[in-house]
Amino acid sequence: MQQVLNLARHHHHEQVQRHGYGEAHSKIILMGEHAVVYDEPAIAVPFKSVQVVSTITPAINGVSTLSCVYYSGDFDQVPEYLNNLKKCYALSIHKIKLELSKQANDSVEQLIDIRIESNIPQARGMGSSASVCVAFVKSLFDYYQVPLSNHLLRYIVNEAEVIAHGSTSGLDTLMTTSHQPVIYKKSQSPKAFDLNLDAILIVADSGLAGQTKMAVNSVAQLKNERPEFVVELIGQIGDFVKHAKHAIQTQDVKELGRLMTYNHYYLNQLGVSTPFIDHIVSAAWKSGALGAKLTGGGLGGCIIALAETKESAEAIAEAMTLAGAVQTWQMSLCKTL
Ligand code: MEV
Repeated sequence: MQQVLNLARHHHHEQVQRHGYGEAHSKIILMGEHAVVYDEPAIAVPFKSVQVVSTITPAINGVSTLSCVYYSGDFDQVPEYLNNLKKCYALSIHKIKLELSKQANDSVEQLIDIRIESNIPQARGMGSSASVCVAFVKSLFDYYQVPLSNHLLRYIVNEAEVIAHGSTSGLDTLMTTSHQPVIYKKSQSPKAFDLNLDAILIVADSGLAGQTKMAVNSVAQLKNERPEFVVELIGQIGDFVKHAKHAIQTQDVKELGRLMTYNHYYLNQLGVSTPFIDHIVSAAWKSGALGAKLTGGGLGGCIIALAETKESAEAIAEAMTLAGAVQTWQMSLCKTL
C-alpha cells in the first residue's frame, strides 16, 4: 500500500514539475501598414515594453482548459473568436505527435491547462493576436520537449493569423518573432534594418479596440469600388516608406517625422482612421511632435509620434493623454540606450 502511495506521489510530483513556457513581445509599425498587404514595403520595430507569456501544466480537472482575459474554461469549448488558438493547437499537436511517435512516446495524449497572460493591450494594432499565438505555440513545443524552428513557428502562427485577420501580410508574425527592426515586403524575404536615431517614439493607446480584420477588408472593398484612387494611395505610401528608409539612414529625423504625418493622411484617406485617432494625432502635432500617425490596422488601436528630445516626448505624451489616450509608452530609437 505504502509503495502504491509513494508511486502515486512520485507520479504526482512528476506531473507538477512538468511545465511548458513561451513568451513573445509586441511590434510597432513605423511606416507602411495596409499598403504592406499589397506588397509595398513597411518598416516595423519590435516593441518589448509589452509581452505575452503562455504557460502549460498538466490538467488538474480531467479536461484541457484555457485561461486568458477573454475566456476561462474547457479548451474544447473555446468561443469562435479564439479559433486562431485552436488552429495553433491543432497544427502544433499534429507536428508534436509526429515527432513523439518517432520516439514511441504517447505523452501528447495528456490533458493540459493553458494559461495565457499579457500586458499587450488587446487589439490595438500591436500584433497582440500574433504575439499570443507565438507564446502559445512556443509553450506547447516546450511542454512536449519537441524542438521548434523559427520557420515552423512562423508557418503555424501565419495560418492562425489568416483566421484572425483575413488577408495578412505576415508582418505581425514576423515581428513578434524578431528582435530587430525590419523592412518588410510580402513577396521578399525580410531584411533586418539598422535603425539608430537620436529620437524618441511615443506610443499612445487610444483605449479602443482596433479592428484589423475589418480595416483590411474595408481597404479591399474600397479598392474594388475605386481601384485607381486606392492603388494611387497605396503606391504613395510605399514611396513614403522608401523615403523614410533613406531619412533613417541619413539621420534626418525631421524628414522621418514629416513622412510619418503624410503616411497618416493617406491612411485617413484609405478610411482606416477615426475622428478620435485624428484628434490624438493632431494633439501630438500641436505639442511639438516631428510627426504622428496611427500604427497597425487602425479603426481604433494605437498612435505613434516622433520626438527629438526627452522633454519634448514628455510634453507630447501629456498632450496625447489629455486628448484621450489611456496609456503611453516612450521608446528610444537610439540603439545604445
Ligand atoms: C496590422 O498590424 C498591419 C496591417 O498592415 C495588416 C497586415 O499587415 O497583415 C494592417
